[in-house]
Amino acid sequence: MEYTRLGRTGLTVSRICLGCMSFKEDPDGWGVDRETSTAIVDRAIDLGINFFDTANIYTAGESESILGDALADHDRDAAVVATKVHPTLGPTAESNPNGAGLTRKTIEQELAASLDRLGMESVDLYQLHRWDPETPIEVTLRALAAAMDRGEVHAIGATSMRTGEFADGLHAAERLGIDGFATMQNRYNLVYREEERDMLPYCARHDVGVIPYSPLAGGYLARPDEEASATDRGEGSDWSHERSGGGETVNARVAELAEEEDLTMAQLSLAWMLSKDVITAPIVGVSSIEHLEDAVEAVEVKLNSSDIAYLEEPYEAKAVKPVFVEPSPGPYRPASAER
Ligand SMILES: NC(=O)c1ccc[n+]([C@@H]2O[C@H](COP(=O)([O-])OP(=O)(O)OC[C@H]3O[C@@H](n4cnc5c(N)ncnc54)[C@H](OP(=O)(O)O)[C@@H]3O)[C@@H](O)[C@H]2O)c1
Repeated sequence: MEYTRLGRTGLTVSRICLGCMSFKEDPDGWGVDRETSTAIVDRAIDLGINFFDTANIYTAGESESILGDALADHDRDAAVVATKVHPTLGPTAESNPNGAGLTRKTIEQELAASLDRLGMESVDLYQLHRWDPETPIEVTLRALAAAMDRGEVHAIGATSMRTGEFADGLHAAERLGIDGFATMQNRYNLVYREEERDMLPYCARHDVGVIPYSPLAGGYLARPDEEASATDRGEGSDWSHERSGGGETVNARVAELAEEEDLTMAQLSLAWMLSKDVITAPIVGVSSIEHLEDAVEAVEVKLNSSDIAYLEEPYEAKAVKPVFVEPSPGPYRPASAER
């Protein structure tokens, strides 16, 4: 395994982060059960992975509980654990209007609940799962700074925001004299490269660790296009967004090069991402130990510049993935903002 620094946190992390969104007690379709999830975490640690990503909303908190229990059998201090708080979705948001939002009250409640599920005294990286247009960023940042002062959070980060929102957050933290976002977790992969316009150059200029999610486009880049329907994430995936803007041709080129170089499509797609200097570690989702082993082997694969150009050439600008939270007319609006 290779290791690198996580932005300005100074933390050392593996070049592969294990995404735990699919960990679930009783999968009824898409999802990975407790036994397999635990085996995946054990194997990840064997393979040198020390970086794990979850969220308060993943499988209504079950992901955090399963990850925490799995890590309890290992050295907690050796793991870098990242979780998130969502501005519009929360495990208790249906019954409690303050079960979601990035207010001080919600952050304190949700962080306490996450620590309880994880069975930990602190998380290493606490991320805002989206921008909250309803709460002034200064309120959110002060709540996060208090959590850092209490020793419950070691560093903060953000996911899927407009570059302007993210920059506003960093400027506000500077004004307040507190530690700002050290990381950006955004959607980025060979068939979704809109982040190359603003966000990635911004992160490079400001030494922000970049930890993209869906590096395999949720599985689309891990199998030939005609087999895309083999994955059902229970979200009515039709892959039309992945296929748009030259995506089908990119998929075909990934398949072709992978065959030529005796790699899996997942390895080739991850090797492309790892070739970018701005990337700290992709957050990979796996549903088996074999997937995990594939991802770890990808760290060794070094692509040459003509392979990279061949994979990138068919891509055309496409619609921005609709993951941002828009201001609501009322004070409270639970909304499914995440695909
Ligand atoms: N911040 C956010 O808003 C956000 C959003 C989404 C995800 N995330 C984070 O990012 C993580 C990864 O997201 P993701 O699941 O969308 O990532 P992904 O890595 O793009 O897709 C994972 C899927 O790809 C397939 N796959 C993986 N390795 C494979 C292999 N070697 N061969 C064949 N298929 C393979 C599997 O599909 P099958 O299961 O169908 O086999 C797997 O579920 C999540 O766990 C979560 O931590 C964050």
